[in-house]
Amino acid sequence: MKKFVVANFKMNTTLTEFGAYLDEFLPRVKDCKSNIILCIPATHFHVANQRLSATSIKFGAQNISSEESGAHTGEISSLMVKDCGAFCTLVGHSEVRKKFKESFETINQKIIRALAVNLKVILCIGETKYERINKKTQQVLRRQLEVALKGLYENELKNVIIAYEPIWAIGSGKTPSVKDVEIAANDIRNIIADNFTSRSAEKINILYGGSINENNCSVFSKIRGINGLLVGGACLNPKSFANICK
Ligand code: PGA
Repeated sequence: MKKFVVANFKMNTTLTEFGAYLDEFLPRVKDCKSNIILCIPATHFHVANQRLSATSIKFGAQNISSEESGAHTGEISSLMVKDCGAFCTLVGHSEVRKKFKESFETINQKIIRALAVNLKVILCIGETKYERINKKTQQVLRRQLEVALKGLYENELKNVIIAYEPIWAIGSGKTPSVKDVEIAANDIRNIIADNFTSRSAEKINILYGGSINENNCSVFSKIRGINGLLVGGACLNPKSFANICK
């Protein structure tokens, strides 16, 4: 099955730099078999839509509002993102959660908004270092998933991808062991099975994210139960990211 490789640009690249990035990146992944998704700043959507529409590469947002429309200065709605041609949006990234003190109840609202306009969701979950040391990972993942996915119908789960990102692994150069990621993926499927069905648990796509680079990507992408990778820092170099995609 095709693996997902998702780039999270975060707040990097001007529009000019993004254009130059695509010039370098697109020829390198022309024959690449992976499902590539670029989660980019909203300022780049228009150019991404123009330049990616003839390719198999998709683009997405890094966040959306939990509100439908109206007096929410600075926010971007799921419909606006969808209307620009985006395929998906990240929700619940730990940097957003921390900065905006975002709860999983709010993340649940965002997921509902995204699915309502046919925008797919990449839901980020993961434990802190403290929670891992205290053996709370499984419990934390359960709570995060149960709150974030509350009220969803089973058939909506096909539009949701789960990204397991231990917070302490993001941008730190540290990664969990292969065994720990395998256990987390298995736990996530069990939680989905408990709350939905075992069929949806089997089918749901789970990504790993946190300090992925050219050297460790192949090990992490081959972990049992893992369907792809979410890449932050290492996606910013088009050559490296193309190698990760391949
Ligand atoms: P990183 O970021 O690859 O730089 O650790 C991953 C992420 O934040 O999604």
